[in-house]
Amino acid sequence: MDRFSDRRIIVTGAGSGIGQATVHRLLHEGGSVVACDVSASGLAGTTAEAEQVGAGDRLTTAVLDISDEAAVASTVDAAVARLGGLDVLVNAAAIQRCAHTHEHTLDDWNTILAVNLTGTFLMTRRALPALCDSGRGVVVNFTSTSATFAHPYMSAYAASKGGILAFTHCLALEYAHRGLRAINIQPGGVSTALALSTLDKMPQDYDLGLWAKQTPILRQADGSVLGEPAHVASVIAMAASDDGAFITGTEIRIDGGAHA
Ligand SMILES: NC(=O)c1ccc[n+]([C@@H]2O[C@H](COP(=O)([O-])OP(=O)(O)OC[C@H]3O[C@@H](n4cnc5c(N)ncnc54)[C@H](O)[C@@H]3O)[C@@H](O)[C@H]2O)c1
Repeated sequence: MDRFSDRRIIVTGAGSGIGQATVHRLLHEGGSVVACDVSASGLAGTTAEAEQVGAGDRLTTAVLDISDEAAVASTVDAAVARLGGLDVLVNAAAIQRCAHTHEHTLDDWNTILAVNLTGTFLMTRRALPALCDSGRGVVVNFTSTSATFAHPYMSAYAASKGGILAFTHCLALEYAHRGLRAINIQPGGVSTALALSTLDKMPQDYDLGLWAKQTPILRQADGSVLGEPAHVASVIAMAASDDGAFITGTEIRIDGGAHA
């Protein structure tokens, strides 16, 4: 499939997990990608994999903290100049910290909101003029199943993801007349650094019983419970391509049926 052969794309959170898998999927389908992440070593891994499959010439990387307004402005502008425009923005970067809500520090609360919610806003705001110029622009944002289903010990993270969910609906309505589509990806139970470290981040006296409803009901071929980043990347490729042309202002939940 060559659904992205004429598409110019920025992906954040591109040094790990779902963002990285999305870069590889969109490169595989012919896209030109600027991959951004705060982790230089993560991006080096993304580049190495792209070069292995002969797609390195369509990949550029940029070390970026999406919560830094000035850095976002210069990085997005440079990416748009390099790509010659912009058709797709995938905002996958995020952090997660866990605590009992009454013990959540203000510092953690503010950091989580600054990266996840404000970072998504800053990236989108800067990219919007170019996405609208494209006439077929797509913003793919990452909410989470924690935004609409109760997940224990992560109220700040869930609140940031709920904010992204609402933000994306506003975008869809406000910019549809410019040809822009805005979609929320709502993952759950995907095997990434963020998900695999969740239990380590829990308060020491956490109640595992509160996690009963977060477990995927599907099983992978090797019997594992968690899905793979590629399971999400393939859905993003569909939604951001012309195959998703009638999708906007909604969530696409990819959680192995955890919330069926
Ligand atoms: N894995 C899951 O089950 C799951 C569930 C719900 C939502 N999500 C969402 O999916 C998205 C991708 O997460 P993932 O699971 O692949 O996690 P991940 O930890 O593997 O990847 C997140 C990436 O974001 C980068 N990042 C963190 N802070 C940044 C910043 N300030 N600026 C730029 N980059 C930054 C990290 O370096 C990392 O490479 C996130 O938005 C996450 O909230 C994941």
